[in-house]
Amino acid sequence: MSSGQSEFATQLESVRNEGLKALEQAAMPEQLEAWRVTYLGRREGKLTLAMRGLSAVPPESRPVVGAVANQVKTALEEAFAARKQSLKALALERMAQHEKLDVTLPGRPAPMGRLHPTTQTIREVTAAFTAMGFQVVEGPEVELDEYNFELLNIPKGHPARDKFDTIWVDQLDANGDMPMLLRTHTSPVQARVMQKMQPPIRIIAPGKVYRYEAVDATHEWHFHQIEGLAVDEGITFANLKATLYDFARRIFGADRRVRFRCDFFPFVEPGVDMSIDCFQCKGKGVIKIGNRTEPCRLCKETGWIEMMGAGMVHPRVLEAVGYDSRKYTGFAFGMGVERIAILKYGIDDIRHFYTNDVRFLRQF
Ligand code: DAH
Repeated sequence: MSSGQSEFATQLESVRNEGLKALEQAAMPEQLEAWRVTYLGRREGKLTLAMRGLSAVPPESRPVVGAVANQVKTALEEAFAARKQSLKALALERMAQHEKLDVTLPGRPAPMGRLHPTTQTIREVTAAFTAMGFQVVEGPEVELDEYNFELLNIPKGHPARDKFDTIWVDQLDANGDMPMLLRTHTSPVQARVMQKMQPPIRIIAPGKVYRYEAVDATHEWHFHQIEGLAVDEGITFANLKATLYDFARRIFGADRRVRFRCDFFPFVEPGVDMSIDCFQCKGKGVIKIGNRTEPCRLCKETGWIEMMGAGMVHPRVLEAVGYDSRKYTGFAFGMGVERIAILKYGIDDIRHFYTNDVRFLRQF
C-alpha cells in the first residue's frame, strides 16, 4: 500500500468506528437524523469529506481503496437502518406499555344538554295552541308605553298602571315623558299584531316580561308569559271557553275541569280569570295519605288553581288599532310560563328558574 493509500484507508476506518460509536448514542429521531447528516450527508458528511482523500491515491490503487470506501459506506448505512428499526420497535413497545388501552372498558357517557324547563313549557303550551290553528309571533322586550299601556286601554293616570310595577328606560321624549319601558306583560303584542294584520287573527306570543319587584319564592323581577289573541267576525265567549278548556286538558290531563270567574283587566270586557280543578287533590282541597287526610297545599285547600287572565277584547282596544268593533269581536288570554311549570312539575321556588343550579335543571 502506498502511503496515500493507507492514510486514506485509515481515515475511512476512523470515520466508520467513530460513526458506529456515535450511532449508539442516538436515541431520539432528531438525534438519528443529525447523525445521518453528520456521517452520511452527501455534501458535508464525514464520509464525503474523507472520500476527497481519494485524489491522493495513485490511479492504479483506486479500485482497491474504492472497495474499502464502499464497505465503510455500506457498514454505516446498514448500521443506521438497523438502529432506526430497533428504536422504532422500542418506541412501539414503550407505547404499548404506557398507553395501554382497554377497549372492553365501557365508555364514559358524555353529559347531555337539555332544554330549560321554561323553554320546555313554552314549547308544550305553544304546541297545544298551534294544534288549534294559532300562529306563534314575538314582540320586543323594550317596548313603548303606547303599546304596553295606551293601546290596551290603560291611559296615563289609570289606576291599573299601579298594578304593573314598571321598569322604565331612562330616556325622556320632547314632552319630558319616559316613553320606553321593559314590557310588563306580553299583551302589547296584541296591539302590534292587530296594527299589521287584518282579521281573522289567531296568535300566541310567548316571551319575557319585567316587573320592578322584590324577589322571593313566588316573585321574580323577570319571567315569561304567553299571550293569546283571536279576532274575527262572530267570536263569542263560548269560543274563549272552548279554546282554554282544550288547552287545559292538553297540558294538565284529559279529565280536567275548568272554572271562570269575573276579574278585571282594562283591555278586556268582560274579563275573567280561569282556574282548573286541582290535579293533586282532584278538586277536593284535601289529600288522603293512607287513612289520614291532609290539607292540599298546591291549591291551598280551595280545590282550584288559578291559571291565567282572559276575556273578550275590549271594543276600545279594537277601535284603537283601527278595527270596526261592530264587525269584529275577539278573545284574549295571558298566562305566566313559570307558574305553569311550577304547577306542572311541583317546583317550590320561582328563583330556581334563573339560578342555573344544575341539580335543579337535571330534573327536567
Ligand atoms: N296581561 C295580563 C297580566 O300580565 C294578563 C292578561 C289578562 C292577559 C287578561 C290577557 C287578558 O290577554 O285577556 O297580568
